[in-house]
Amino acid sequence: MPRQGQRILVFDSGTGGLSVVRALREQIPQAHLTYAADTAAFPYGDWNEPLLVERICSAVGNLIAETAPQIVVVACNTASTVALEQLRNRFNVPFVGTVPAIKPAAALTRSGVIGVIATPGTVSREYTRALVDTYAFHCEVILHGCEGLAGLAEGKLQGRAVSIEDVRREIAPVFVARAAGRTDVVVLGCTHYPLLLEELTEAAPWRCSFVDPADAIARRAADILQQDVAADACDLEQLAIVTGPEGLCSANTFAGFGFTQTKLLAMPVESDI
Ligand code: DGL
Repeated sequence: MPRQGQRILVFDSGTGGLSVVRALREQIPQAHLTYAADTAAFPYGDWNEPLLVERICSAVGNLIAETAPQIVVVACNTASTVALEQLRNRFNVPFVGTVPAIKPAAALTRSGVIGVIATPGTVSREYTRALVDTYAFHCEVILHGCEGLAGLAEGKLQGRAVSIEDVRREIAPVFVARAAGRTDVVVLGCTHYPLLLEELTEAAPWRCSFVDPADAIARRAADILQQDVAADACDLEQLAIVTGPEGLCSANTFAGFGFTQTKLLAMPVESDI
């Protein structure tokens, strides 16, 4: 029997967006989720901007044609900070983006010293700098591009052990002690990082709050669905789609987040053809 629910496409370069899936499933349990990981192009963090915008728009275009979502959640900071505007201009579907949670961090800090860990791409974007200038101009904000942290999260989901020393090295630059106080809030500016929360907590040199935007993203998606999108009869499988050869993400990983089928929708990147 088809269920009543809304169709949401959740998009990321890899398995990071599963941290957002967790919150969506909690807040909108009736929704039908399709998860898409652009594994052929992972990691997005070190792509050049114009090429990445084209890649994201063409991948999302193919996925919309394939899955006919009623709303798209871009569960990727690197993609949202560079391509959200173009996606909204090109496709007639509501988009919810994921951007570094600098505004809530500025409300939370007591010392006034905030760390932001994200991909090298996200920390270099105008979009991110504008968030700092608008919401955290009265704070010291240390933006740091982590080269390998998203890869460590991918490894963890594939069952590989994560070295706390490696995590410590990746995040060390955002922990500073100033006369006014130490870094007390760290923004998780990449959706892969909440998947490493335990390791991050262990690797931090002192206690701090890690800000994960997943609940806020799910709330925003729920609001849009409630206001603008009617539930539809839907008997599709809870499907996970990958764009490149398996290996980066396995069916087992997706099954742990409620996806009963995995499918390859091949989208090789040009340099691989
Ligand atoms: N999960 C992604 C983000 O939120 C990016 C990881 C990557 O592809 O580098 O930024």
